[in-house]
Amino acid sequence: MKKAIVIGGSRGIGRSIASSLRSINCQVIQTSRNDIDTSDLQSVKKFVAQQKYTDIIVLNTGGPPAKSFFDITEHEWNLYHNQLFLSFCLILQKLKINDGGYIFLISSDVMKEPNPDLVLSSSYRLAFTSVLKILSKEYASRNINCINIAPGAIDTDRVHQLGIDTKKMTSSLPMRRMGKPEEIGNFVAAIIEKEIKYLSGVVINFDGANSNYVL
Ligand SMILES: NC(=O)c1ccc[n+]([C@@H]2O[C@H](COP(=O)([O-])OP(=O)(O)OC[C@H]3O[C@@H](n4cnc5c(N)ncnc54)[C@H](OP(=O)(O)O)[C@@H]3O)[C@@H](O)[C@H]2O)c1
Repeated sequence: MKKAIVIGGSRGIGRSIASSLRSINCQVIQTSRNDIDTSDLQSVKKFVAQQKYTDIIVLNTGGPPAKSFFDITEHEWNLYHNQLFLSFCLILQKLKINDGGYIFLISSDVMKEPNPDLVLSSSYRLAFTSVLKILSKEYASRNINCINIAPGAIDTDRVHQLGIDTKKMTSSLPMRRMGKPEEIGNFVAAIIEKEIKYLSGVVINFDGANSNYVL
């Protein structure tokens, strides 16, 4: 039985991934902020020391608030540097990923198209995307796949907490609907179940045709 750790697995996209992985008989450890808080490096180190190894890890966490550049405090820069970037680096430095394993990152579409109202998210997700791309080459010789999923609008608590007019936003989307978290969960499970491996190093735009960029 494959062991899978889903960080931020108590709600939203993470919870759907955890439930899909369970449906393909993985032994799933799905965490909330109480188990590992990625903004708190001591909590991250403690969690990794307890877990030691895994076959699959989903690097996911809560998103930062919507704020424009001049409104972000020094405290918030530090907090989200840890939450969205440094904690994921420490996890991959200290957690053993078994040969043939998978690393999934849940990033964001703002990583490819920076959003002036989501400066923290746009910048730190792009930073960790670079790290994961570099690591995809290091892990390749051990058949460990790195897959970066960049969601567009997905119908979870997060979207409703951002304070946007979701009705208006939804009507502007190409599919006239947000994505369902289960769609991402099923995608992740299918890759693992079908043992798809040659996709490593890729960024998947999971956005229902909303983005305009080609690459
Ligand atoms: N939904 C979207 O449209 C969308 C689009 C692009 C990117 N994203 C990004 O995708 C990720 C998941 O989004 P979501 O929509 O599933 O969010 P969500 O519904 O708000 O769920 C967030 C999950 O992350 C956990 N979490 C929050 N803060 C954490 C922390 N400091 N350390 C560890 N875990 C933490 C939460 O645990 P608790 O239950 O303990 O709070 C929860 O399990 C986020 O980073 C989000 O910004 C989402």
